Amino acid sequence: MANSSNPTRRDPYALRAVMLVALFLLTLPGIIIAALIAEPKPPAPPKVELAESAVVREAGGMEALVASDLYRQGRQQFITNCTACHGEHGEAKPNLGKDIAHSKFVAERTDDEVMAYIKVGRRVNDPLNTTGVDMPPKGGNPALNDAQIRQIIAYIRALQAHARGEVELPAG
Ligand code: HEC
Repeated sequence: MANSSNPTRRDPYALRAVMLVALFLLTLPGIIIAALIAEPKPPAPPKVELAESAVVREAGGMEALVASDLYRQGRQQFITNCTACHGEHGEAKPNLGKDIAHSKFVAERTDDEVMAYIKVGRRVNDPLNTTGVDMPPKGGNPALNDAQIRQIIAYIRALQAHARGEVELPAG
C-alpha cells in the first residue's frame, strides 16, 4: 500500500500551513506595535516665551499700538531701512534676510534686548549666524537713532502679533 493512502500519516502540507498561520499570528502583534510606534507625529511647535514689551505696555496694548503714531513711524522706518532684506511684513527676502514676523529670537527678547541686537547686527562670522548672510548693524544705516529703532521695534511687535493671529494691521 502506498504512503499517501495511509490514514494514520498526517498531510505534510496541512502541517506546514498550520505552522505558517501560527507564525503569522505570533508576528501580528509585533507588526501592529511597530506600526503604532512608527506613526508620524506632527512636530511640536517651538515653545515661545513671550517677553514683556515696553512699547506694547506703554501704548496700552496691541490694539492701541497698531493705531498709534509710533506704529506708523515704525512702519515708515522699517520700509526705509529693513524691507530690502526682510520684506514689508518681515517675511524675509530669499537669500537676503530672515523671517522676523515669526522670529522666536525676537519674541523671547525684551525691547531693550532687541534694540541692542539691531544696533550690533549679526555678521556672517558670528557663530549665532544662521543664514550665512550679514545682518548689518542698524540694517546698514548708522544714522538710525534710538527713538527710530524704538519705532521699528513697535512695528516688529505688531508684525509678530499679526503673525500669531492676535491683531489686524491697518491697511496701507
Ligand atoms: C542687508 C540685509 C539686511 C538688512 C538691510 C536688515 N537685515 Fe536684519 N537680518 C538680515 C539677515 C541676513 C539676518 C539673519 C542673520 C542670521 O543668519 O542669523 C537678519 C536678522 C535680523 C533679526 C534677527 C532675527 C532672528 O530670528 O534671528 C532681526 C531682529 C533683524 N534682522 C532686524 C532688522 C531690522 C530692524 C532692520 C532694519 C533696521 C534690518 N534687520 C535690516 C539681513 C538684513
